[in-house]
Amino acid sequence: MASVSQKSLAIIGQGYVGLPLAMAAVQSGWTVIGLDNSASRVENLNQGQSPVEDISNETLANALKSGSYRASSNFEDISNADVVTICVPTPLNAKKEPDLSALRGATNSVAPFLKNGALLVSESTSYPGTLRNEVIPIVEKNRSTGTTQLFFATAPERVNPGDLVWNQKNTPRLVSGIDKESHEKALDFYGSICDAVISAETPEIAEAAKLLENTFRLVNIGLINEFTKLCGPAGIDINKVVTAAASKPYGFMPFRPGVGVGGHCIPVDPLYLTWWAKQNNLTSPMVELAEKTNSEMHKYVADRALKLVKSNKKKVRILLLGVAYKAGVSDVRETPVSHLREYLTHLGHVVEWIDPLVTSWENTNPTNDLKDFDVAIVAVNQPGLPIADLQGIGTPILDCTNSFSGQNGIENL
Ligand SMILES: NC(=O)c1ccc[n+]([C@@H]2O[C@H](COP(=O)([O-])OP(=O)(O)OC[C@H]3O[C@@H](n4cnc5c(N)ncnc54)[C@H](O)[C@@H]3O)[C@@H](O)[C@H]2O)c1
Repeated sequence: MASVSQKSLAIIGQGYVGLPLAMAAVQSGWTVIGLDNSASRVENLNQGQSPVEDISNETLANALKSGSYRASSNFEDISNADVVTICVPTPLNAKKEPDLSALRGATNSVAPFLKNGALLVSESTSYPGTLRNEVIPIVEKNRSTGTTQLFFATAPERVNPGDLVWNQKNTPRLVSGIDKESHEKALDFYGSICDAVISAETPEIAEAAKLLENTFRLVNIGLINEFTKLCGPAGIDINKVVTAAASKPYGFMPFRPGVGVGGHCIPVDPLYLTWWAKQNNLTSPMVELAEKTNSEMHKYVADRALKLVKSNKKKVRILLLGVAYKAGVSDVRETPVSHLREYLTHLGHVVEWIDPLVTSWENTNPTNDLKDFDVAIVAVNQPGLPIADLQGIGTPILDCTNSFSGQNGIENL
């Protein structure tokens, strides 16, 4: 562990990224103030209610009890922080273009309160040039006149919510400072929390690397989804194909088909890339095609599920199993299952859902009656799905997650 000469940290945004970072920093000896502009989130945090699955209420309560952590919505509270990290959402707007309003807003809010010599790090995912051309100019415009020197770095977050193996500590952290001193301070800071810190030569390399990581996933998932549509009609199980191909010890990495891509990263970050390309009068057709392939996958899934219906009814009852954006989380934002439900409903069918981790989804509640469904679709393999009960009553099941391969009454996508 690197030596920590400065121990006061402010983290802007206490969500899937900011809160785990706060807890990891507390464990590494930092005193942390978690800033969030949601008053209710701040109140819950200070009462020991964690909003994210990766942090238990117990971990949060211990951090609060130790006096090393508290949440606040008052930006003045960052004025003692030696390091300030920004972990706010960078979603897409209605036109599917980058929406940096939260990042700009957070930067604006911290700028007047940064103390002299503070290091400001952007962890939010964005296109290359964001630190240099967005974050720094906002700070320069709004900083207090008393601050003669500030330091800036980018360290795109790689957290994978629900991952039991990889976390803030053991995931290598990519870091780059705007200048040599900023770089060293950022390496020192992350070295105090993470097992491995990787230097990127420029912030733009680090920012582009983050987009590459998630675009790589989008494109490969797109390829497998395309392959699925080729294999399905030929009666070939794509998952068995992937498993067979993955026996090659080099040059292949298994990706699995599914309802589509979900979450805040894989469906979003590649569109930051395509947008950035357009700003530079360039295009990225491969990424655009992968995005289109994945975003149309729900139609293929619907088609396959409807083929399992035993009756000739025009209007069938369909049960969706698992609606969060991925297994193990309760988060339904950007879930591809929404498109599947919309599509099936649009075709005139009745769609109900169950997800043991989700209590409410798009203003609807889960069903607790398993009877009389013509087909069920495992969209996300959440823990505790009533698979055995559905098998018991003979409901045909399409499994889009390759979790129940070979089981009675269950067909793989
Ligand atoms: N969730 C992931 O799996 C993941 C993984 C890697 C990177 N990222 C990136 O990390 C960033 C944060 O994502 P997240 O998933 O933690 O978001 P989140 O929605 O879980 O949490 C963001 C928090 O920021 C708060 N917030 C929004 N605007 C604010 C402002 N102006 N000032 C203070 N607080 C504000 C929100 O109230 C919320 O609590 C994004 O850029 C995202 O792309 C996310």
